[in-house]
Formats: sequence, structure tokens, C-alpha cells
Amino acid sequence: TRVTVLMGGPSAERDVSLSSGHEVASALRGEGYDVTELDAGPTLAADLQALNPDVVFNALHGRWGEDGCVQGILEWLQIPYTHSGVYASALAMDKEKTKVAYRMAGLPVADSKLVSKSDVLSGHPMPAPYVVKPYNEGSSVGVYIVQEGSNAIASMTDDMPDELMVEQFIPGRELTTSVMGDRALTVTDIITDGWYDYSAKYEVGGSRHEVPADVPAEIFDACMEYAVRAHNALGCRGVSRTDFRWDDTKGLDGLILLETNTQPGLTPTSLTPEQAVKTGMSFGTLLRWMVEDASC
Ligand code: DAL
Ligand code: MG
Repeated sequence: TRVTVLMGGPSAERDVSLSSGHEVASALRGEGYDVTELDAGPTLAADLQALNPDVVFNALHGRWGEDGCVQGILEWLQIPYTHSGVYASALAMDKEKTKVAYRMAGLPVADSKLVSKSDVLSGHPMPAPYVVKPYNEGSSVGVYIVQEGSNAIASMTDDMPDELMVEQFIPGRELTTSVMGDRALTVTDIITDGWYDYSAKYEVGGSRHEVPADVPAEIFDACMEYAVRAHNALGCRGVSRTDFRWDDTKGLDGLILLETNTQPGLTPTSLTPEQAVKTGMSFGTLLRWMVEDASC
């Protein structure tokens, strides 16, 4: 089987994607696949036509690679590809619209709304503490946690988009669960000194992961169930990863879904490969399953 691993691209998560892509390409070679690596640029469609692979392994993250755009090109070219299709990718990339689907599926979320940059800069758009984030980026790019009386707003960079999402900050724990087809893998408790920002995500030792999470069975089981329901509510395919916040002073009522990642990171510090390994599956076995599951 000839597999092209799509990586890089122009998004804010380019470097993360190159890291995911290189890991994937070398592991797939180890599994015996004939692998080409392709940095997604402006000639992507022509490059794919020339390569004409049996399967595209999509290791892109962020805009254009995770939001339905590249999935549309692959549908048009009729090349089977890994992960979610056009619609689920577009829906899951929008953190605010995702919540509409979650709510319809009866899944718990924190209060949030879309506001303009000037609303954020001119005062608190909701009672602190809250989180300001782009509604369509990943890897915590451009995310600010605003505490009561904090000056995080002043430190916001000029390149913040004009439309922003503000969301009630849920204190406590950061939990995550990957879904593979119709089953949840396990629950990870992400332990950080500050919060799980870009450097905590990708620097070796930036965060500690407790897998399986040492949380009450009720919370563990809820994450497993909610992650599958979220995957299905959004119409995801293949592998996804749903992120949670859990206020551990409130029991099950303190658990909310933040978002579902349709292209979860596959870097050496990423959560999904680690969850696979902890549940007895090698990285190669996980990737093999994804390649076999690819469709268009
Ligand atoms: N957006 C990063 C890659 C993740 O969700 O793992
Ligand atoms: Mg994300």
C-alpha cells in the first residue's frame, strides 16, 4: 500500500504537524508501507494527483488541514484519507458551533459566547475567571486565561482575530479521551505547573500525564461515554480526541466538554499515541488501523 503522509501546511500548528507527520511516516515505514512525505503547499492538489497514493494519511493540524478544506480536495480527487470527513472536520474546528452539536446530544459544556476583539479589550465580556480563545485554532495558540483583576487582556497580541470566543473558566483538572472508531481508549489526567499551553504540550517534560487517570469511576466512565457520544454527534470518523475540564469539587456536575480534536496530535509528547500504548496497542498498530479505516 502506498501512503502519502500530508503534513506541515500554512496553519499556526505547522511545526506540530511536521512533528506528527515525521513520527507517522517513520512508524508506517516500520509497518511495511511505501511512504511518501508531502508538505502541504499551494500545489497540493497537483502533487497528490502526481503521487496518486492508495491512501493519504492526514497529519495536518489546524486551519486548512483540520477544518474540511483538505478533506474537500481529497474527496474531489477520490483518494481515501484518514480521520474525519469534510463536514465533521468543519464543525469540530469551530469550538462554538461544536457546542451546538454537543448540547443537542445532551453533553455538558461551559457557558461561552463569541465577542469582538474590542469587547474583550474594553472590559470583561463575562464575569472572570474566563478563557479567551480563537474559536478555530488548536494547540492553545492565542489562548488567554483571564483571572479576576488580571491584566492578561493587556498582554494579548495584536494578531488576535477580530472575532473571539470567551468561555467560563472551569477550575480543576484537564482530562482527555481518544476515540478509535466506536470505542474510547482511556482517560488521561494532564498535570501541569501552570496550564496546558503550547510549551506544556510540546516540550519534553512540559506536562505529566497520568494514564489511566486516577479519578472516581463515575468520572472515568463519563469521559469514556461522552467522548464516544461527542465523536458521533459531530459525525467524526477514525480517531478523534475529546478534551474535558473537571471541577473536582463538584462531582459529575463539574465535568464539561471543551472540544473534540478531529486531527489529534501524533507527536512524541502527544496524548493519543500514549493512550494507545497504555491500552496495549503499539503506535504502529494504531496507525495501521487508521490507514485501513481510511475512506473518501
Ligand atoms: N491540536 C493538537 C494537535 C491536538 O489536539 O493534539
Ligand atoms: Mg484542539
